[in-house]
Amino acid sequence: MNLDESILKALRSATGTGVSGADLSNKLGVSRAAIWARIEELRQLGYEIEASPHTGYTLKKSPDVLHADDLRSRLGETDTIGRSIQVFQSTDSTNDVVQHLASGTTEEGAVVFAEEQTKGRGRLGRHWISPKSKGLWFSILLRPKTHPESAPRLTIMAAVALVEAIENQTGIEAEIKWPNDILIGGKKVAGILVELMAETDRIRCGILGIGIDVNLRRSQFPADLRDLATSLREVSGAPVDRPALAAAILKTLDRYYSRLEISDFGPIARKWEDRCSTLGREVSIQVGSRIVEGTAETIDEFGALMVRTRFGQVERVTGGDVSMKRF
Ligand code: BTN
Repeated sequence: MNLDESILKALRSATGTGVSGADLSNKLGVSRAAIWARIEELRQLGYEIEASPHTGYTLKKSPDVLHADDLRSRLGETDTIGRSIQVFQSTDSTNDVVQHLASGTTEEGAVVFAEEQTKGRGRLGRHWISPKSKGLWFSILLRPKTHPESAPRLTIMAAVALVEAIENQTGIEAEIKWPNDILIGGKKVAGILVELMAETDRIRCGILGIGIDVNLRRSQFPADLRDLATSLREVSGAPVDRPALAAAILKTLDRYYSRLEISDFGPIARKWEDRCSTLGREVSIQVGSRIVEGTAETIDEFGALMVRTRFGQVERVTGGDVSMKRF
């Protein structure tokens, strides 16, 4: 743990009371002057830290910025996800950054955030708008020990983690649209993009890319998306704390990813089914040049969607562009 991470952690656990420079210095094994210098740096970054001769340092307010040490301090110990975190002010696509890291020795679970992406991408080669400081745009390096056939499980567990963390942090209930969309009131608020580097029988690495429209105003979406997409801020009517949400999502992902590794997928699949608005609906799915039409019934143990066609047979669909027919 580095010094800023430790200081922020200590300040957060003493929110009501404050912590003295002497206590921080003893606890962290550095001089009071070093503590003071780091506190000054944190203030420059926008952290409102009050200093009083009676109570010591108190964290009054955190800025709306993604700061790797702050995210680590909020996250605490995790099994895999978030043991290392990097934040870019601007990059083309965080999935590309992680892909680059993957070819080196970067450990599994490394997370890359960007305040802004200039070439954010969604599924099927679509552009993903990622304006500065308005959302959470991040990617995680995974090295799952599962067969490539089980790769859809990554999207499934990520979707469950997203809806749970969003609900815990904001009280907003979101739903999952297979395979990778998170919706609120029928409008898309987040998307998941899993990219794999795999051999026939082994996943070399998976890149789990997540984009969440957190604090965009309706006017900040391109005109053609305004009726299709929304943000957590638009739904809740107030700005949402991005760093707190980011930490909650990473924590939840870490919990589910550990279960995925030990092939304990059943409970995650049930949670997914509870939150999925696609199941039980008449769907039309474009799979390459083919269209599969029928009722979305369930997902199988690998995360593929099972669709009963009007001829009665069940088709297994692992990806595609789904539209749901209205009742
Ligand atoms: C989709 O809904 O089509 C998936 C959208 C995924 C967007 C995220 S933002 C972070 C990461 N980097 C990218 O370029 N894409 C993903």
